[in-house]
Amino acid sequence: MSSLFTRAAAGAIALPNRIVMAPMTRSRAVQNAAPNALVAEYYGQRAAAGLILTEGTSVSNDGLGYARTPSIHTPEQVAAWRLVTDAVHAKGGRIAIQLMHVGRIAHPANQPAGARILAPSAIAAKGDMWTDAHAMQPMPAPEAMTIDEIKQAVADYAQAVRNAREAGFDGVELHSANGYLPNQFLSPNSNQRTDAYGGSPENRIRFVLEVYDAMAAAWDAGHVGVRISPAGTFNDIHDPEAATTYPLLAAELAKRGAAWLHVVKPANAAAFTDWAALRRNFPGTLILNSGLTKETGAALIDANEADLISFGVPFIANPDLVTRFQNDWPLAKPDPSSFYLPGPGGYTDYPAYDPPK
Ligand SMILES: Cc1cc2nc3c(=O)[nH]c(=O)nc-3n(C[C@H](O)[C@H](O)[C@H](O)COP(=O)(O)O)c2cc1C
Repeated sequence: MSSLFTRAAAGAIALPNRIVMAPMTRSRAVQNAAPNALVAEYYGQRAAAGLILTEGTSVSNDGLGYARTPSIHTPEQVAAWRLVTDAVHAKGGRIAIQLMHVGRIAHPANQPAGARILAPSAIAAKGDMWTDAHAMQPMPAPEAMTIDEIKQAVADYAQAVRNAREAGFDGVELHSANGYLPNQFLSPNSNQRTDAYGGSPENRIRFVLEVYDAMAAAWDAGHVGVRISPAGTFNDIHDPEAATTYPLLAAELAKRGAAWLHVVKPANAAAFTDWAALRRNFPGTLILNSGLTKETGAALIDANEADLISFGVPFIANPDLVTRFQNDWPLAKPDPSSFYLPGPGGYTDYPAYDPPK
């Protein structure tokens, strides 16, 4: 039997298998940045995963930058997330929420009134983003965060963890990958601060560790994991020092007993090569992601390069991905044009596999 189907744990969370649903923004939070019954149905359909990681969910109004993405800082949002955790638990699943702050990856047309675009330094990310009101728009330059604003962001993450517990989540993941605020602090091209948060690798990891510590204090380290993308260039990240910064960060997270380290390792990763240093420096649960299949994922577990494997796109068109893997049934292909569209189309209407009788 494939080693994907052995029991495991993500920190303090016991899992019946090693298949994690990767976090995926699906842009169905159509009102007040809150999920709804449709979102609950979508996650409930995927409850056979060892662990579901939700879409990136903002910790504050400032942290919200995309159209129709969710947050978890108002009572209405917390109550709406309860629909989601109840739906997953009713089917016997486990679900952790990915907590996110977009930093400079934002457009005012996507933000609630009064929100600001804050980042380590006042450097715009090159690129455009979708807005429902004005289609594609260039991302404006952010304001550089003051020390008080950094402290506020750290406090927002901690409050979001308390909210996630209240909403019934089994754990939380700090989104420190893919070019969002924590990743903007890690990378020298987006962080040109001259204070304690910029310059050396020790200074550039400071924000992530302060956020981590605040999140762990709001629950415990065994329920708080972290996602990183050391070779990532998405959202205008260019990090020539990644091979120093990320092993250091992994070691610091290990000291704290972080529940998991979720590593996005692209198939053709050239920029950052010392992946083994992450495994060495982080003896806890390591989740590997990106472009993996049942076979390549199981091989990584067998080679002891990972403890858990996360699958993103395969879960979109295969709500029953775990059962398909178990039975070697064929996988359906998703329609990328509906990844981010509101409504059930391409979201909750992918059927489970119906085997020939
Ligand atoms: C529609 C879509 C939305 C995504 N949203 C997020 C997100 O909110 N947070 C995150 O960390 N990664 C996000 N990702 C990246 C996925 O978690 C994953 O890293 C990527 O799909 C590669 O894994 P895969 O080859 O198994 O799909 C997203 C990917 C897709 C396709």
